[in-house]
Amino acid sequence: AKVPVLTIDGPGGAGKGTISSLVAERLGWHLLDSGALYRLTAQAAVKHGVALDDEPALATIAAELDVAFPVEEGQPRTLLEGEEVGQTIRTEQAGERASQVAALPLVRAALLQRQRDFCQTPGLVADGRDMGTVVFPDAPLKIFLTASAEERARRRHLQLQEAGVGASLSSLLKEIQARDARDTQRSVAPLKPADDAITLDTTRLSIPEVVDQLTELLAQRG
Ligand code: C5P
Repeated sequence: AKVPVLTIDGPGGAGKGTISSLVAERLGWHLLDSGALYRLTAQAAVKHGVALDDEPALATIAAELDVAFPVEEGQPRTLLEGEEVGQTIRTEQAGERASQVAALPLVRAALLQRQRDFCQTPGLVADGRDMGTVVFPDAPLKIFLTASAEERARRRHLQLQEAGVGASLSSLLKEIQARDARDTQRSVAPLKPADDAITLDTTRLSIPEVVDQLTELLAQRG
């Protein structure tokens, strides 16, 4: 039988990461955080002194990317070349760099099969920008998760405050709008809902409400 895939695409800050991992946990399915692969590709490039516009060199880095996502004592970890990266790939700068390398067709091509390899029984929740359009076009349930840019900036601001990091709401909003623009306007795999995706606007929904809606939709489709 085919392995079921739930794709969750959408702009940064819509809650994809949180929602995807909660849904995967509830279903006991695997999780693909595709954004992490782009973030790690950019991080490996910086580490090895490769310029973020050197497409052939970046494609080689992406193809040879040595990453692992082990779960130890219930804690998910991210290893790049055997070293824990911790939160270093989660900064705004890391996101900005990821978005730069993600605009390069050869980098996307190099990461395609690696992403498909995450599709294993009993199922996969795939989180990203092009999961439903490019990587898993046959997925039986595709979700496009969005929220207003203001709400996404507000959520990010809260997250940073909780982490003890100061940032201004207006500069966060500007960063979010700039990244949206780059992700939706690039020529290869631009951010957009798949034709058969269900769009869910989470601006006024809580996390548990979104998780419930997705589990219900899956049950209807399954
Ligand atoms: O989702 P996350 O914020 O970690 O993604 C970082 C960047 O990686 C995005 O802004 C986007 O440019 C890129 N990305 C992508 N395709 C994906 C996932 C992420 O282009 N499937």
